[in-house]
Amino acid sequence: MEFTGKAVLVTGASSGIGERVAERFAELGALVAVNSSTSSKAGEAVAARVGGIYCRADIADDQAVRSMIEEVVAAFGGLDVVVNNAGTTRVIPHDDLDAVTDAVWNDILGVNVLGTWHVSRAAIPHLRRAENASIINVSSLAGLKTLGSSIPYAVSKAGLNHMTRLLARTLGPDIRVNAVAPGLVDTPWTADWHDFRTHVGEITPMRRSATPDDIAEACLYLARSTFATGDVLVVDGGHHLV
Ligand SMILES: NC(=O)c1ccc[n+]([C@@H]2O[C@H](COP(=O)([O-])OP(=O)(O)OC[C@H]3O[C@@H](n4cnc5c(N)ncnc54)[C@H](OP(=O)(O)O)[C@@H]3O)[C@@H](O)[C@H]2O)c1
Repeated sequence: MEFTGKAVLVTGASSGIGERVAERFAELGALVAVNSSTSSKAGEAVAARVGGIYCRADIADDQAVRSMIEEVVAAFGGLDVVVNNAGTTRVIPHDDLDAVTDAVWNDILGVNVLGTWHVSRAAIPHLRRAENASIINVSSLAGLKTLGSSIPYAVSKAGLNHMTRLLARTLGPDIRVNAVAPGLVDTPWTADWHDFRTHVGEITPMRRSATPDDIAEACLYLARSTFATGDVLVVDGGHHLV
């Protein structure tokens, strides 16, 4: 029970990767706060299952995020780990430039980049008081390679990777900041991406897409580490090699 007594906030934890991250931390003894913006029933169910609390907040909304962080700290007495997992996208072929409206840019950057910033900034004063505090950003291979569900999504994850490095440099030695960059993961988000899943199964060294568990394990590693900071840990079954 290596995370006993540690307070962990997982954003976007009502399904997929975030849900599994919340479960794994709870299995290892952590007090877990489960966040989502609309799926409150699913989020409450995850929170009940992991013995934690549910906090509804849209991470794009700075005031809502500040209230959420206060709620978590009031409930758990502090904050040790933040997993910035909440994210959004639109599936838009990269050559369909007209489909990428300003609203699409604002929505995707507003959640994936600015939302992650809101959560991190509000959490930092509390993390500074914790031992081996860390922020873990769930990024994407799309932020490293010229692929991804849309250009704004890929750009947002590239921005998130650099935010990870910039904050790691700024916040050390008090707080470590790292990211996990998954390739394709089997979650509700990608449930109907059949052709891409087949493609990944054919071309990547590991011949399969990731499970949420594969990514949760990487998050646990980054939380456990006492020295890793500023890393973008690619966990993609070798997809980046092809
Ligand atoms: N699945 C993949 O292949 C893959 C690959 C690389 C990276 N990722 C990244 O992994 C993360 C999780 O994705 P997933 O595949 O697990 O998707 P998912 O199952 O659809 O889960 C997304 C979670 O984020 C929450 N969310 C979305 N917008 C939010 C907001 N503005 N504020 C708070 N919560 C919000 C969702 O709940 P609500 O909708 O109720 O808010 C849900 O809990 C994302 O950052 C994604 O970019 C996924």
